[in-house]
Amino acid sequence: MPILSNLVLAVSVAGSALAAFPSVVHYPPLNSTLDDLTFAINGTGAPGIFNSSVTPDAEYGTYNWCNMPHVRTKEYKTVDLSYKLEYVELIHRHHKRTPYASNIFPNGAENILWNCDGEGPLTYGKNSTGPGSDVIPIQWNAFTSPSNPFTTIQGFNGSNCQFPQISADGIADSWTHGFDLASVYKDQLGFLPKELDPSRMHYRVTNNVITSQVAGGLIKAMYPDLTDYQVLIQSSSFDSLEPAFSCSGANAVNAQYQAANTTWAQHLQLAAPVYDKLDAVSGIPRNDTGGWHVSFDHYYDNLSAKQCHGFPLPCNVNNTDVCVDQELANTVYRLGNWEYAYNFRLAQNSTLYSATHYGAWILELKAHLEGKVAGTNQDIYRHNIAHDGSVAPLMGALQIANGYWPGMGTEVVFELYSKSGSYFVRVLIGGQPMQTSTPMGTLDLVDYNTFHAYLESLVGTNGTELFNFCNGH
Ligand SMILES: *[C@@H]1O[C@H](CO)[C@@H](O)[C@H](O)[C@H]1NC(C)=O
Ligand SMILES: *[C@@H]1O[C@H](CO)[C@@H](O)[C@H](O)[C@H]1NC(C)=O
Ligand SMILES: *[C@@H]1O[C@H](CO)[C@@H](O)[C@H](O)[C@H]1NC(C)=O
Ligand SMILES: *[C@@H]1O[C@H](CO)[C@@H](O)[C@H](O)[C@H]1NC(C)=O
Ligand SMILES: *[C@@H]1O[C@H](CO)[C@@H](O)[C@H](O)[C@H]1NC(C)=O
Ligand SMILES: *[C@@H]1O[C@H](CO)[C@@H](O)[C@H](O)[C@H]1NC(C)=O
Ligand SMILES: *[C@@H]1O[C@H](CO)[C@@H](O)[C@H](O)[C@H]1NC(C)=O
Ligand SMILES: *[C@@H]1O[C@H](CO)[C@@H](O)[C@H](O)[C@H]1NC(C)=O
Ligand SMILES: *[C@@H]1O[C@H](CO)[C@@H](O)[C@H](O)[C@H]1NC(C)=O
Ligand SMILES: *[C@@H]1O[C@H](CO)[C@@H](O)[C@H](O)[C@H]1NC(C)=O
Ligand SMILES: *[C@@H]1O[C@H](CO)[C@@H](O)[C@H](O)[C@H]1NC(C)=O
Repeated sequence: MPILSNLVLAVSVAGSALAAFPSVVHYPPLNSTLDDLTFAINGTGAPGIFNSSVTPDAEYGTYNWCNMPHVRTKEYKTVDLSYKLEYVELIHRHHKRTPYASNIFPNGAENILWNCDGEGPLTYGKNSTGPGSDVIPIQWNAFTSPSNPFTTIQGFNGSNCQFPQISADGIADSWTHGFDLASVYKDQLGFLPKELDPSRMHYRVTNNVITSQVAGGLIKAMYPDLTDYQVLIQSSSFDSLEPAFSCSGANAVNAQYQAANTTWAQHLQLAAPVYDKLDAVSGIPRNDTGGWHVSFDHYYDNLSAKQCHGFPLPCNVNNTDVCVDQELANTVYRLGNWEYAYNFRLAQNSTLYSATHYGAWILELKAHLEGKVAGTNQDIYRHNIAHDGSVAPLMGALQIANGYWPGMGTEVVFELYSKSGSYFVRVLIGGQPMQTSTPMGTLDLVDYNTFHAYLESLVGTNGTELFNFCNGH
């Protein structure tokens, strides 16, 4: 297979340069419309579904920002029976939620009340035995008090939501996501045990509570008999999953391709007319310090969170003739997707940035696979609930054929198979084998050694190289 020998070549070149870590080879994305700045700014239409969690079956697999496609029985491609499934590690973005407080129009410019009555997150402590085991779940109900002179009305005056929190709809999507996974890995393949086995299965969350909110619905759907469960979490000072560890080396690489006189800077200038229209509704000044004009992230979140929950698009609180119309919202959605494509795939150094920014989690994945192949890892399943900021650099590091902003619930699954003493890796995104621009092509039963060599070209062997790179040594 010529494709694989190309990779061996690329990796061995990289391998010989391991001393000069990192030795990442960037393979440009295949051309997609989302890579095209003219389409983002002057095109029309939304790049997918943005107004409902429901994707019609006939279209399942298309981009749905509110609820991305994932593994489920209807579309799951079973592998030839001569291959034995040994291990599954899965990572996905949390499900839909209220916006972050930082993404709500400031100074009372929000005209719609977001109600979270009875939907608040649960936060409580519990011991496994003794009096501390007999506790009730405690639910949050956010409120503001007119007597508290320090209250800042962040748009939603009087709302009882905690911003952000997974919405009731998002909890329902989390439940369905877990149900669909169990229907494949438990019921159809008989790979997962009937009862959750904590000695071989692990669920993991980040320090952002919204990932635990998703876990509650998702794990219950996979294992309905459970009444409570312990998830894994790393300290917020070095969590690899979010990621929260600090890597100034990666940040410097990213800053370089977002600096003045880059395509990044150019896109913000070209998008000035889009900002003019949005600012006229929100009242946010162009020189704001809240991050509204350094990328389209905030406007994207403000508009898409509303639309995913069936709320209308906003109008200026003082002049209801000045509104965000659907075409303006669609432009924001095209621009947001262009930004992720640029940051994680288009820029030449995006692979280097992705690999090092997300390197600690990739090192953990590599170790899990190594342990399975060496026979020292008894785990069968690891499930990571994370963020767009986790999945995007993973997609970038794997050099997915075309980049995009991973929407709510975006799922990447690593399946390790064995056959006659050899190992193979399949990677699924949106429920289907991931197409990449690398010489590995589509990650569909790639030889383990090839995949492993690729991971080492990204993150080195044992963590020392990454640690030194991050810390500028
Ligand atoms: C992608 O588009 C660019 C610019 O339009 C072009 O130069 C390049 O040849 C295209 N690549 C492929 C693989 O089509
Ligand atoms: C968008 O269209 C305008 C008006 O035709 C043009 O001036 C501008 O260059 C176009 N922007 C991009 C990024 O192509
Ligand atoms: C969602 O948007 C599509 C167009 O993108 C439109 O056809 C459809 O009617 C909308 N659905 C709802 C529920 O608003
Ligand atoms: C976004 O801002 C508009 C304008 O004030 C507001 O009406 C809307 O509720 C906000 N939506 C979200 C989801 O923040
Ligand atoms: C908490 O649970 C542990 C483990 O079951 C038990 O050893 C300990 O006594 C309990 N603590 C209290 C205060 O009940
Ligand atoms: C918040 O809403 C209350 C009740 O509707 C109203 O009295 C108050 O003026 C509002 N505060 C702000 C800052 O808009
Ligand atoms: C990529 O980043 C490295 C490390 O900072 C730098 O040396 C190199 O010049 C960058 N490459 C490009 C194309 O910007
Ligand atoms: C910006 O980029 C252009 C084209 O690459 C180059 O000619 C120009 O000198 C650069 N300007 C600055 C300030 O770096
Ligand atoms: C609405 O009008 C008030 C009073 O003039 C002003 O302070 C506020 O900035 C305006 N808000 C928007 C979003 O234009
Ligand atoms: C933004 O610009 C306005 C008017 O030009 C000025 O009054 C304000 O101080 C500026 N704000 C910041 C944060 O620079
Ligand atoms: C990691 O690998 C490097 C290079 O092979 C080696 O120098 C270093 O001692 C190793 N570190 C650990 C902790 O094993």
